[in-house]
Amino acid sequence: MGIGNIGQARYSAVSMIFHWVIAVMVIWNWRLAENAEHATREQAMAIFADHKALGIAILALSLARLLWRLTHKVPPLPANYATWERVLARTTHVLFYVLLIGLPVGGWLANSLAGREIDMFGLFTIPPLPVGRNGELGSRIFDLHAAGGTIMVYLIGLHILGALKHTFFDRDGGIFRMLPFGRVSREVRR
Ligand code: HEM
Ligand code: HEM
Repeated sequence: MGIGNIGQARYSAVSMIFHWVIAVMVIWNWRLAENAEHATREQAMAIFADHKALGIAILALSLARLLWRLTHKVPPLPANYATWERVLARTTHVLFYVLLIGLPVGGWLANSLAGREIDMFGLFTIPPLPVGRNGELGSRIFDLHAAGGTIMVYLIGLHILGALKHTFFDRDGGIFRMLPFGRVSREVRR
């Protein structure tokens, strides 16, 4: 059975690719930021150069993903979801989109307030946003950025717990809704 004819019970191939590519990039970028904490100043500079470039790549992909999301249908949640599960799942997903765009925009803004550009892996550079210089505001935004990053990590944990619960406990699809194989529940409430 190909991805094309599995109907509405799971996400589309495009959604799956966006989901897994961005998920790997986000987890990678979080690990980069964490590694910088235990590095020398010089190493930290190099790590943050990668963190910033990867963050901007995540921003570009997330904007494309959101545009796709808003213009295409997604599979409804399985019928057996309790109301609290629907609300929790949807809230987590909305917060993910807010953070996927808010974190890199905040990082870019704070970086710009320090007058810095972003080197995209040596391919090209992203100029600072035209916001002038304000180091103090920049470091406050970085504090918010770090807090937002921590919130995102907890949300990822919650999201994985939800996927595990629905895969192995409720057995209504769970992770298979985001994968092109495995059994998913076709019973939906419209
Ligand atoms: C989706 C993309 C991004 C994610 C998920 C992310 C996540 C994080 C996380 C988890 C931290 C560490 C917080 C901590 O434990 O202290 C961090 C720190 C940082 N990020 Fe990002 N980030 C992203 C994009 C960016 C971008 C685009 C920039 C700059 C252009 C940036 C610049 C920084 C800097 C400079 C720090 C250190 C902040 C500090 O400790 O004062 N990040 N980020
Ligand atoms: C950085 C990590 C991740 C982010 C930012 C993320 C983000 C998202 C978002 C925004 C959605 C909603 C899609 C939409 O309706 O537009 C979603 C759905 C989903 N994610 Fe993740 N995800 C991440 C990691 C994971 C992991 C590790 C798993 C598996 C353990 C997973 C499993 C799923 C599943 C199964 C769905 C479909 C939910 C449903 O049944 O409707 N995700 N994810």
